Amino acid sequence: MKLTKTDKINKPLESTISYRIAVASDLDAVVNIENNCFDTEKFNRRQLSYLMFKANGCCFVAIDGDKIVGYISLIKHTRRSNLRIYSLAVDASAQRKHIGQGFIEIAKAYAKENKLSSITLEVRLDNAPAISLYKRNGFSETEILPNYFKYNIDAFRMKVSIE
Ligand SMILES: CC(C)(COP(=O)(O)OP(=O)(O)OC[C@H]1O[C@@H](n2cnc3c(N)ncnc32)[C@H](O)[C@@H]1OP(=O)(O)O)[C@@H](O)C(=O)NCCC(=O)NCCS
Repeated sequence: MKLTKTDKINKPLESTISYRIAVASDLDAVVNIENNCFDTEKFNRRQLSYLMFKANGCCFVAIDGDKIVGYISLIKHTRRSNLRIYSLAVDASAQRKHIGQGFIEIAKAYAKENKLSSITLEVRLDNAPAISLYKRNGFSETEILPNYFKYNIDAFRMKVSIE
């Protein structure tokens, strides 16, 4: 799948949801989703703006009707042939509609398009919903990262290979 700035990626799992690359007018909605989805480990507006528009990678949003309901931030590490899922969040009102699943499929397509051979991410050990989403998509734990997050919260590093 070739992803361009103007593409809308419609996922079969949830017919009312579409995906596209984030644009400047999405920033407010992404900030709101971030604040609603994370307690301690959240990015502020400036950091999100950097991730969306300046980082070496791409940010996609999910749209339900005219509402932004989720985002994923992807960072390319070309030298290591790796794509990192830097952040992923789906608004509480839109969870369990396979939007997170759609984002993982987009991440895999983006890695393939950029000829990157793996995807990695870090997730709190106690984040069962996210770990379950990653495992059903072929990710496995490669490392435990003690105190990786604020307040001494440990993380798993998880990885999947891209063929
Ligand atoms: C983790 C998160 C992105 C999942 O998004 P989502 O759109 O709700 O997930 P999906 O509907 O695509 O779920 C796909 C699968 O993941 C697993 N899953 C997702 N949420 C789950 C939950 N609350 N409990 C158990 N399994 C869950 C299930 O296997 C699910 O498949 P099923 O619905 O057919 O059983 C979302 O819960 C979220 O934004 N959480 C807060 C922020 C966060 O933790 N981000 C990840 C940081 S690493």
